[in-house]
Amino acid sequence: MRAQNQNIAGTRPAAGAGSLAQNGQPRVDPDIFRAVMRQLAGGVTVITTVDEGKPHGFTATAFCSVCAEPPTVLIVVNRTARTHPHIDARRHFAVNLLADSQTDLANRFAGKMENQFDGMSYTIPEDGAPVFDGVAAQLQCIVSSRLDVGTHTIFIGDVVGGGTSESGPLVYHSARFGRIEQID
Ligand SMILES: Cc1cc2nc3c(=O)[nH]c(=O)nc-3n(C[C@H](O)[C@H](O)[C@H](O)COP(=O)(O)O)c2cc1C
Repeated sequence: MRAQNQNIAGTRPAAGAGSLAQNGQPRVDPDIFRAVMRQLAGGVTVITTVDEGKPHGFTATAFCSVCAEPPTVLIVVNRTARTHPHIDARRHFAVNLLADSQTDLANRFAGKMENQFDGMSYTIPEDGAPVFDGVAAQLQCIVSSRLDVGTHTIFIGDVVGGGTSESGPLVYHSARFGRIEQID
């Protein structure tokens, strides 16, 4: 078993203030937490919005379905992300589930370049947020509530539109991009 798994029961105290859980137990060491999360494979999205006529977006894996009735999702956004205030202001976002040919978009929207939408092929539905050409799937969402947790904000979204394509999804695991290989 690897070193990081020695603390699999989560008993190693974390350094620094604010490291206690609600019941007073020490939180797990953040490095162990990050190592565990690297083992979680997930789809890669670019979350987009439009504010005052300008498109904004960033790469995110912290997206998941909350429930289907009614259709509801959540995204988790670092409050330092440039798109954060625009989602807060506009209260509308799109989830672009990238196709496995779109690592260039994942890298572009995880970076700090200006004018990230320049040269991109995308459409903006009426009252919606940008959808890139060639994505595996997309959803249009209206923010229904938000919750600040540590450095991030959880935005809950009512899903008001969406669509899929035949493309396979881009996957992120252990800090690398990959694609799905079926095993059955
Ligand atoms: C694969 C991957 C997944 C990411 N997931 C998230 C996420 O879920 N939430 C988040 O706030 N940032 C996430 N990030 C980091 C942002 O994409 C990155 O910090 C981006 O630069 C923020 O946008 P900004 O440069 O416009 O501020 C992820 C980055 C990568 C490469």
